[in-house]
Amino acid sequence: MADAEDLKRAAAARALTFVTDGMRLGLGTGSTARHFVDLLAVRVREGLKVVGVPTSEQTRAQALSLGVPLATLDELPELDLCIDGADEVGPDLALIKGGGGALLREKIVASAAREMVVIADASKHVAMLGRFPLPIEVVDFGVSAITLRLARALKAADCAGDLVLRRVGGTTRFVTDQGNLILDAHLDRIPDPAALAREIEQVAGVVEHGLFLGLARRVILAGPGGIELLERSA
Ligand code: A5P
Repeated sequence: MADAEDLKRAAAARALTFVTDGMRLGLGTGSTARHFVDLLAVRVREGLKVVGVPTSEQTRAQALSLGVPLATLDELPELDLCIDGADEVGPDLALIKGGGGALLREKIVASAAREMVVIADASKHVAMLGRFPLPIEVVDFGVSAITLRLARALKAADCAGDLVLRRVGGTTRFVTDQGNLILDAHLDRIPDPAALAREIEQVAGVVEHGLFLGLARRVILAGPGGIELLERSA
């Protein structure tokens, strides 16, 4: 029986079929995207010509170590395809991302791409977003004040829940690649992701949130029964 890593790798392998010679690729972050970069590197060694723009220092280090040619987003501001994982995939291919803390760069890179393809194991597919805590990246100034305002914003979108400052090892505050902090919103249910996104975006001090709406064009889900490809038309 396939374990979770096998499923992630199967989704990553399928994503490779969307990659063609000469593409400028956004390279996602996380354990599923890691499989994609591993498999891409094999194809590069076989002669595939692509350039990758990584969405995190972690992915940059991995891709560099495997010999995948890289560029910055300033050097390549328009990309053909971005391949990334997700924490949840909901209706209309709305996503929660940022479990690994890379949501800001991930959203910038995905927005720069003509197409975003998400790779995930099928357990990430949900009828309503929200079971996975929603990451919200905030500046490292006035975090208590930002948290209070955010709590009101969540309520206004019918999504009350706890906001927890992300830490590593229980004490140290998690700091993103951009030097910001992350508040994880434990909401359980997000009935209207677009309304929640609008409310969160009103709060001063919020840099970005992990709701990716209208960005994913395709989602490749790998389950025990095989691969399912979800596509968004508009
Ligand atoms: C990184 O910040 C995230 O957005 C990841 O893409 C997401 O957490 C999926 O990660 P896994 O592939 O490890 O589940």
